[in-house]
Amino acid sequence: MCAQGTLCDIKKALQPELNSFPLDLLFNAMDIGVILLDEQGKICYLNKTVGHMLERDTQHLLDKHFTEIFSTFFSVSAEEYRKTSPMFEVMAHNVEKIGVERYSDLTKRCYLTNYHPVMLNNLKYYLITFTDITKRKKLEEEIIKMGQELDAAFALTLPNSKVEYKLKNTPEYVDTYNPDQGEITITEIIQDGGYRHVVNALKIAGDLHREGAMSILGIDKDLLVQTLIFHDIGKSQPDLAVGQRVIAAEVFEDSKLHAGRSAEIAQHIYQKPPDMCTLIRYHHHAEDELPASFPRYLLPMLRMVKLIDGLSAALTRRKAQIKLTVHKELIIVEEKNHHPAYNNKRSLNLFTGQVKYCHNSPDGNKKYRSRA
Ligand SMILES: [Fe+2]
Ligand SMILES: [Fe+2]
Repeated sequence: MCAQGTLCDIKKALQPELNSFPLDLLFNAMDIGVILLDEQGKICYLNKTVGHMLERDTQHLLDKHFTEIFSTFFSVSAEEYRKTSPMFEVMAHNVEKIGVERYSDLTKRCYLTNYHPVMLNNLKYYLITFTDITKRKKLEEEIIKMGQELDAAFALTLPNSKVEYKLKNTPEYVDTYNPDQGEITITEIIQDGGYRHVVNALKIAGDLHREGAMSILGIDKDLLVQTLIFHDIGKSQPDLAVGQRVIAAEVFEDSKLHAGRSAEIAQHIYQKPPDMCTLIRYHHHAEDELPASFPRYLLPMLRMVKLIDGLSAALTRRKAQIKLTVHKELIIVEEKNHHPAYNNKRSLNLFTGQVKYCHNSPDGNKKYRSRA
């Protein structure tokens, strides 16, 4: 039966072809709570899900003012509810409010709520929806806790608080490239970007370790971990603001300079071994730019450091998704990235340095081809 005729109004106004469809059946089958308030805020329709959420019989809630029902559900008093409920702003300013998280002390559950003013047959109503997101919130909290535990574990691997301070105070910038002007626009500042970058690099190294990459000749796990921690320690970033448009080459230092500086710091302040300092010094050099004195036996390690460095930047700055597999001396990377240049599947041969890209051949089979 329709409360005050409003459910019938919805049927007629919104979807005449569904006039014969029992919408109650549909609303009651959903796990989203649906409430319709009249202009004064009285409940004129609610589905059974709301009844389950409130642990009340829906029939007893009809015609009640929403404050009578929800003030004790979401707040300890009517006064506090008046201060915190988005509903009053929605009614006062005729605006919708989407995605408001509300916690109920009564049920100890969290709800995602939406508030929409709607006009039906020249009468104003308010449509409210509730979704119980308690499970999702618990998962989110667990993920945050795991991240904090990982951070704490990572902090133990750092040599001292100065290294931690430097990494946590080196920002990284997220940007978009405007090809017409040759500029980038800063869209986000990751204040502890240096720290995030190293943590992500170590996570990738962990994935590669699990795949068996540390068993490849020429790859040394301990040397790799220490190289990743120190590789950008000498980086100096400009101070930029969100929305700022700059020409990257003018404001960011040539990467080879911070690589050289990081190597000096690793060698002279932290007495790191020569191989590690060499890897750090050349982590932004292309292979054909390496000096003749570069030890060839370090090439597989350099290739791996550069691969991890690039993938960590994709995780840190471009929210990429990465899948890694290892086959003999081949590292196979599947990268899902907003940046089309990196959105691909490719393999890197750590012994030869050859990179092959996977493409879908006309016969439907995936094949690798060398980069031109
Ligand atoms: Fe670097
Ligand atoms: Fe880096």
